[in-house]
Amino acid sequence: MGNLFNRKVLLGVSGGIAAYKSAELVRQLQDAGAQVRVIMTRGAQEFITPLTLQALSGNPVHSALLDEEAEMGMGHIELARWADLLVIAPATADLLSRLAAGRADDLLTTVALATPAPLLIAPAMNQQMWRADATAQNLATLSARPGVTLCGPAEGVQACGDVGLGRMEEPATIARAAAELFESGALAGVRVVITAGPTREALDPVRYISNHSSGKMGFALARAAADAGAAVTLVSGPVNLDTPAGVNRVDVVSAQNMLDACLELRDSCDLFIACAAVADYRPAEVQADKIKKGAEHSSLALVRNPDIVATIAAGEPRPFVVGFAAETQDVLAYARDKLARKNLDLIIANDVSSAETGFNSDDNEVALLWPGGEQLLARAAKSVLAHQLIAYIAEHLPATKRN
Ligand code: PMT
Repeated sequence: MGNLFNRKVLLGVSGGIAAYKSAELVRQLQDAGAQVRVIMTRGAQEFITPLTLQALSGNPVHSALLDEEAEMGMGHIELARWADLLVIAPATADLLSRLAAGRADDLLTTVALATPAPLLIAPAMNQQMWRADATAQNLATLSARPGVTLCGPAEGVQACGDVGLGRMEEPATIARAAAELFESGALAGVRVVITAGPTREALDPVRYISNHSSGKMGFALARAAADAGAAVTLVSGPVNLDTPAGVNRVDVVSAQNMLDACLELRDSCDLFIACAAVADYRPAEVQADKIKKGAEHSSLALVRNPDIVATIAAGEPRPFVVGFAAETQDVLAYARDKLARKNLDLIIANDVSSAETGFNSDDNEVALLWPGGEQLLARAAKSVLAHQLIAYIAEHLPATKRN
C-alpha cells in the first residue's frame, strides 16, 4: 500500500458533469496527507466554481495560461515542477484527445506537457463517446506513454440517462490509485513523538536557565519522519522555527512541561525520539519577584529535573526509544553508557565539541549506537543526517511497533 503523506498533488479538473466530484476528491487527497493545488479548464468552471475548490484546497485555483498575476505567483512552469503527481479527474473525451495530441492550448494541457510528474487520468464521459474509436485510439496513445496510469471509468447509470462504461470512478478509488503510485514510506503508519529544542527553567519572572539548542536537529528529524510516512508529534521547547508540513506540534517551556506533554502522548506513541537538550537541573525555588542585585557573590540551589527519556523507557506502554548523547569527549563511550543506563533501544552520539556541529549549527556529526553495534555517519547538514537517521531507525524498528 502506497501513501500520499506530504505528496504534492496537482488536480486537473476538466468540464464534465463529474467535475462536482472533484470537491470530494480534494478532501480525500488531503485526508491522505497530500498537499493539493487545483487547475480548472474553462469548461470545468461551468460545473463547479473555482471558489469551492479554492476554499477546500486552501490554495488559489489556477485556470488561465496567460494570466500575469498568476504567473507572478506560481506560474505554469513552477506548477509543473511543484507537482509530485498530476491527477486529471474528470478527464473528458476532449481533454483525452488534446493530451494524446500533445496540445498545449490551455493551462492544464500545458502543465501536463511541462511536468516530469506521473499522470493519473480518471476519464468520464457518455458511454457512446467512451466506445468511440477516436477515444479508444487516444487512450491507447496515452496508455503507451511512460508515467501514465488510467483509473476507470466505472460502469453504471449516467447523468444523461444512458447505462454503460463512462462514469468517473469514485473519489476514494481515485485517491487510493494515486497513493499506490508512491512507495509506502519506511515509517508508514508509525506514530512518532520527537522532543526538540531547549528547556527553560525559571529563576524569577524574567530570568531562566537554558542552553543553546536551536531545535534544528529535532525539527529536521520531524520532517524526515513525516517524509517517511509517520504521524509525527513534535514536543518543542522555545525555538524560532516553522513547524514542518504535516507535523503536529506541542510547545512547552520547562523540563516538567515537556515530561507532562510526553506522558500525555505515550499511549499513542510507537517510536519516541529524545532530541531535546533538557536542562538537567532547575532552580530549587522560583522567586515570585525579580531577584534584586545584592552581595558580590551569590549562589543558586538547584534540584534535579526528571529524566524524560528514561521515564518513557521505564514506563508502560513502552515505545521504541531513541535518545541522543551530546558529548564533548569520549563521545562513543559516554553514549554507550547512557544507552544502557537509560534503557534505550538506540542512541545517537553527538559530538558537540566544535561550534560547527551540535548546538545551534546547520551541520552535525553523529554516530548511531545500539546494544549490538554502531554506525558512524559522516558530517553533513542536519536535514541530510535526519533522513539517514530516520532510515536507520526504521530498519531497527520492530514489527510490533508498526500499525
Ligand atoms: O537543537 P540544535 O541546535 O539543532 O542542537 C541539536 C542537539 C545538539 C541539541 C541534539 O543533536 C542533541 O544532542 N540533543 C541531546 C542533548 C542533550 O541534552 O543530551 P544529553 O546527553 O544531556 O542527554 C541524553 C538524552 O537524555 C537526550 O536524549 C536528552 O534528550 C535526554 N534527557 C536529558 C535530560 C533530561 N532531564 N531528560 C531527557 O530526556
